[in-house]
Amino acid sequence: MPSRINPSILSADFVNFESEFRTLETADLIHIDVMDNHFVPNLTFGLPMVSRMQQITPKPLDIHLMIDSADRWAPGYAEIGAYSVTFHAEAAEDAVALARTLRSIGSRAGLALKPGTPVEQYLELLPEFDQILIMTVEPGFGGQALIEHTLEKVRATRRKIDAEQLDVWLQVDGGIDESNIERVAEAGADTFVAGSAVFKSSDRAHQISKLRDLANLGFSHSH
Ligand code: DX5
Ligand code: ZN
Repeated sequence: MPSRINPSILSADFVNFESEFRTLETADLIHIDVMDNHFVPNLTFGLPMVSRMQQITPKPLDIHLMIDSADRWAPGYAEIGAYSVTFHAEAAEDAVALARTLRSIGSRAGLALKPGTPVEQYLELLPEFDQILIMTVEPGFGGQALIEHTLEKVRATRRKIDAEQLDVWLQVDGGIDESNIERVAEAGADTFVAGSAVFKSSDRAHQISKLRDLANLGFSHSH
């Protein structure tokens, strides 16, 4: 299974998204962090900006909603044609109903968990989703160090996905770089968000393929 590398534009130049997107042509999806300054202590952009991003890049967008009232706001992102919409379990009233709504509009549905949220109670819900996002840092800011204990949740989720042969992507987000991506893949992740690790590089295409190669190596060790 080839690993996916999704650069996070949280580390991009916010007034030059068009040229920044052009540097990400070899990415699998582009990860878009929507923050409301309530669910997380940081603010980025909302639906009108994401709608324009959708128009200026042919890449599928991987929307990560770090916002309260996900039930109210997430469907709008599916309606503009976003390829994937991930909301936080901690911010949704009815995660399953919301996932069904997102899928019925035509997007992939993703469920995100903060580092302190146990995964066990959500494992039974996985067939309702196309992706689970195990946050490997506290959501809100780029450039933080990976929290080691979150990898236990990645392992538990991988066991469940494999045991039931579920078609669910296992995404990790936060603190992923060339020093740790191989062992995070070994723990079971197949979809990797990388913000600072991609944007710090002057040759982003090279950096993306390096991260993907290391992840594929880690995955091959675990199977
Ligand atoms: C953090 C965001 C991440 C962030 C990751 O809350 O969800 O997507 O951009 O940045 P790095 O890869 O620098 O940790
Ligand atoms: Zn994110």
